[in-house]
Amino acid sequence: MGAQGSDGTREATPVWVAVPAAGSGARMGAGIPKQYLPLAGKPLAEHTLAALLAVAQLRETVVAIAPGDPHWPALAPALRARVRVVDGGATRAASVANALRGFSRRPDPGDWVLVHDMARPCVRPGRIAAMLRELDADPVGGLLALPLADTLKRADAAQRVAATVPRDALWRAQTPQVFRFALLERALDEALASGEEITDEAMAIERLGLQPRLLPGSEDNIKVTRPEDLALAEYHLARQGAQS
Ligand code: CTP
Ligand code: MG
Repeated sequence: MGAQGSDGTREATPVWVAVPAAGSGARMGAGIPKQYLPLAGKPLAEHTLAALLAVAQLRETVVAIAPGDPHWPALAPALRARVRVVDGGATRAASVANALRGFSRRPDPGDWVLVHDMARPCVRPGRIAAMLRELDADPVGGLLALPLADTLKRADAAQRVAATVPRDALWRAQTPQVFRFALLERALDEALASGEEITDEAMAIERLGLQPRLLPGSEDNIKVTRPEDLALAEYHLARQGAQS
């Protein structure tokens, strides 16, 4: 939905970025939120922010952090200077909804908002740029995701297999997730008002009866969740560095 420039060329749709980073990292159990743990020599969040800020066409980035977060000011000043900060909420959806209100001006309804978990430090700027090209004139938006590889089992209360769930057509959602601003704002506000648990932006959009596009993600774009994920993330970052 890029506007037609005065010289006849198509201008790219503005892309605004919202980064939820207000979680406490309960499953990591590290004593400090996982986004501030050291990863390949610097705080995890610095990898994520550097990757996002390397994408050329992004307009402005808002990070939602926990109110009074004592760790944020310790991040590299050069990165912090390039983003705005708002208070996050009690849930990821609330944090993203707050971030949408933190831009220096209200994005236009058809502008893109790109949401990316701070806890995914291995995202590649090239994949983000390609994702934005792939979505181009899409009226809704989409997300990176991976088709499931493992066979799925549904457990009963005794932790025995109750059923095998067909995995055809099942995907694991990742971030970035990219949606039109007005749609995403409405979707999150309505989802939050409903009290339903919303685990990603796509789910809020689906509640409106819309169908986000699934775009192939990659295995290296992991969400650092448990202690063993730190070594895995370091491996992926080292491998990416060796390739570039
Ligand atoms: N997040 C957020 N606000 C919340 C909860 C989560 O901004 N109230 C962010 C996290 O900081 C993270 C992303 O959402 O960047 C994905 O969430 P998750 O991996 O679940 O992180 P945590 O909630 O911190 O981890 P845990 O669930 O283990 O406590
Ligand atoms: Mg969580």
